[in-house]
Amino acid sequence: MPSPTPHLSSPLNADAYWMPFTANRRYKRDPVLFSAAEGMHYIRPDGRRVLDGIAGLWCVNAGHRRPEIVEAIARTAYELDYAPSFQMSHPLAFELAEKLCEEAPAGFSNVFFSNSGSEAVDTALKIALGYHRARGEGQRVRLIGRERSYHGVGFGGLSVSGIGGHRKPFGNLLPYVDHLPHTYDRERMAYSRGQPDWGAHLADALERIVALHDASTIAAVIVEPVAGSTGVLVPPRGYLQKLREICDRHGILLIFDEVICAFGRVDGAFASAHFGVTPDLITSAKGLTNGAIPMGATLVRQHVYDAFMQGPENAIELAHGYTYSGHPVACAAGLAMLDICRRDGLFQRSRDLWRYWEDAAHGLKGLPHVVDIRNIGLLAAIELAPLAGKPGQRGYAVHQACLERGCLIRAAGDTMLLSPPLIIEPAQIDELFSVLAQVLRAGD
Ligand SMILES: Cc1ncc(COP(=O)(O)O)c(C=O)c1O
Repeated sequence: MPSPTPHLSSPLNADAYWMPFTANRRYKRDPVLFSAAEGMHYIRPDGRRVLDGIAGLWCVNAGHRRPEIVEAIARTAYELDYAPSFQMSHPLAFELAEKLCEEAPAGFSNVFFSNSGSEAVDTALKIALGYHRARGEGQRVRLIGRERSYHGVGFGGLSVSGIGGHRKPFGNLLPYVDHLPHTYDRERMAYSRGQPDWGAHLADALERIVALHDASTIAAVIVEPVAGSTGVLVPPRGYLQKLREICDRHGILLIFDEVICAFGRVDGAFASAHFGVTPDLITSAKGLTNGAIPMGATLVRQHVYDAFMQGPENAIELAHGYTYSGHPVACAAGLAMLDICRRDGLFQRSRDLWRYWEDAAHGLKGLPHVVDIRNIGLLAAIELAPLAGKPGQRGYAVHQACLERGCLIRAAGDTMLLSPPLIIEPAQIDELFSVLAQVLRAGD
C-alpha cells in the first residue's frame, strides 16, 4: 500500500462542523488536524508525525491503516455495498458473529450487530428488559449503572452512565434507574499496579439497592469491567465476582460494557476472561473493526437468546435493529481485524508488554502534580492535581504540550489517559512517558 500523503484542502472553513464532545469555539480558534495515519502515528497536514498514545479514541488496537483491513473494506464495498439487515442478510454477518462467539467466554452463543458502542449498550439494555418480559417477569424494568461510568450517549446508555456533566444538560433520562457507587478511593488505592487490593466490598451496595427496590423490579446491572474514559478505574480484586454472585442470587442480568476493554486492551479478546467473571451480555465496538469503520456488537449467552426464541416461528422475536446492523463493509473489517489478532498474536503481544508498560507508567511517580497512577493491560491513567479553581485546565495544557512534542495523550479533566495501539514498541512506550514527564517537569 502506498504511504499516505498528508494534505489539507485549504483554506479550512471550520464553521459548519459541530464537533462532538469538543469545546467548539476554543478548538476552531486553532484547529489541530490529522490528515493521514500509519502504524503508530498520525500525520499532521504539515507532515509532522504524532505518536498515537490513545489508539485514536481507544479503538485502533492493531495500529493505523492496516492493509488487510483497508483491502477487506475496499473489496467488500466493491462487491456488496449494502444488504438489507431486516429479513435478509449476507454471509459475512454470520461468519463474524460465529467468530466473535468463538473468541468470547464459553456460553456466548449469539451476536446482535449495531453501529457504535452507544447502540451496542442500548441494544443490551433492551435485550435485558425483553428477556425478563419474555420469561413472564415484565415488572423487572429497573436498570442499575454505576457512578463514573460511561456507556455512550443514547438515552439508555446515558441513563445508566455515571457522569453528571453528561446527564445534567438533558434533564430527565430513563425512569427506573439507579447507580452503584464508583470503585475509586485515592486514599486507599493510589499507585496500585493492576487491581487494587481494597474495595471488593463496594459491590455490596448492590444488595442495598436490591433491598431498596426489591429484586423483582431489577432487570440488569451494567458496568465497565475497567471504567475507561472516566480515568482507568481498575476494579478492586473480588469486586466483579461479588457483583456476579449478587446478580445470580437475585435473578438479575449482568452486562459488561467492553467497548474499551475488549480486543486485547486489557487481556485477551474480552476482559471478562481475565477477571474470571462471565457476564450474561457483553457490549463491544471500537477495536472490533480497529476503528476503521463504525460497528457495535452485543454478545449474549445462550439462555438469553433462548428466552426470545419462543412463540410462532413467523413472529419477530426482538423488535429492534438498525438499517446498518451487520453492514457488509463493517463485517469485512471485523473479520480482517480478528484475522490480524489471531495471526499476529496481538493479544499475547499486549500481555507481553504489560509489565514494561506498567513500569514506564509508574516511573512518573513523584513528578510535579502527579497524585495517582493506575494501570491494567495496555491502559494507564496519570492523575494530576487540578489547578486551584480551574478544574480541567492543567490536563488540557498537558495534552496540548504533549501534542506539540509529538505525542497524542488524552486528558479527561486533569487525568491523562493512555491506551496505545497494541503494536507499540518498548522504545515508543519510553517516548510517550518521557514526553509526558518532560511536560510535567516544565509545567507550573
Ligand atoms: C465503555 C463505553 N461504552 C460505550 C461507549 C460509546 O461508544 P460510541 O462512542 O461508539 O457510541 C464508549 C465510548 O467511549 C465506552 O467507552
